[in-house]
Amino acid sequence: MYLVARIENVYMSKIKAAIKGVGGYIPPDVLSNFDLEKMVDTNDEWIRSRTGIEERRILKGENKGTSILGVNAVKDLLEKSGCNPEEVDLLICATVTPDVLFPDTANIIAYKSGMKNAFTFDLTAACSGFLYALTTGAKFIESELHKKVVIVGADKMSSIIDYEDRSTCIIFGDGAGAVLLEADEEHGYHNSFMRSDGSGQEHLFMVAGGSAKPASYETIDNKEHYVRQNGRVVFKAAVSGMTDAVNKVMKMNDLSVEDVDWLVPHQANVRIIDTVGKMLDFPKEKVMMNIQKYGNTTAGTLPLCLWDYESRLKKGDKIILTAFGGGFTWGASYLTWAY
Ligand code: UT7
Repeated sequence: MYLVARIENVYMSKIKAAIKGVGGYIPPDVLSNFDLEKMVDTNDEWIRSRTGIEERRILKGENKGTSILGVNAVKDLLEKSGCNPEEVDLLICATVTPDVLFPDTANIIAYKSGMKNAFTFDLTAACSGFLYALTTGAKFIESELHKKVVIVGADKMSSIIDYEDRSTCIIFGDGAGAVLLEADEEHGYHNSFMRSDGSGQEHLFMVAGGSAKPASYETIDNKEHYVRQNGRVVFKAAVSGMTDAVNKVMKMNDLSVEDVDWLVPHQANVRIIDTVGKMLDFPKEKVMMNIQKYGNTTAGTLPLCLWDYESRLKKGDKIILTAFGGGFTWGASYLTWAY
């Protein structure tokens, strides 16, 4: 299998899809553990020790959806990277909380960001959404038919969270991150190991709101439009899924832990991140972490890590990103930093 992966590498396009800029946006309203103490039967000590989260951000205001988060992240990205929005060929938005079922949130973000020459689509893979979108977007650059591709990971999780359910409301927050992909001959995206397993769907999902069970008075009364999660099952699956995916990607690229500069794990729980880091033998200082500030922003976590750590990244740094989420979906990607 690894031989096949190596042969594929040899014949891979010379052009790499390199991240040439990172943007992010976190709404200003803070929901702290102490705020949550007043809403459900929980406490700061429990939340910190079981999840590592201290506070999360919430997008407030009527009729404000995920596109607001995405537009702000994209504007930050375009401004920082000096990219003209009219030059962007493609925008992919990973989200499980679209503004509406259609049109796509990617469509709205591109329109509001002045991207007049882009085609756009949403991609749904829950907490693995950004990784799926990055892997997909990289192929468009490698094809050499697209020059500038923007990948957004954005979720307004507060719109699908039951703030009377202490097992879920403490974890999630709102936020968005975005990256710009351009061709580079030296650095950029190398490859991924990606998987999904639909048998996991019953452990992390929403009961209603789709075509199988459209919204009705009954679904609302039964609180079926909120996230349901079997935390312990997801925890174990997340640890084994991310550990396995990172190991696979290291083998595919002949990398040892010493070779890798940064591990960027999905931010779902500090105990998951620590366990994955330990199982892989990664020293803590190589593992990105910002869950304490934002909680789990679903598709937003990976680009928000890159956004927060951007000033510490150096050209050529070897980076492995990994995620696990509802579906189940999971995977890991290897890239080298291009600036
Ligand atoms: O990003 C997508 C993937 N999602 C994840 O990766 C999440 C994975 N799961 C988790 O992060 C953890 O399972 C949780 C944070 C959701 C829960 O932590 P846990 O250590 O697995 O707790 P638990 O569900 O086993 O519950 C332990 C106890 C229970 O009480 P009893 O039955 O032992 O008396 C819960 O009722 O803690 C109780 N509990 C709480 N207590 C205070 C559950 N939530 C809370 C709370 N505050 N917020």
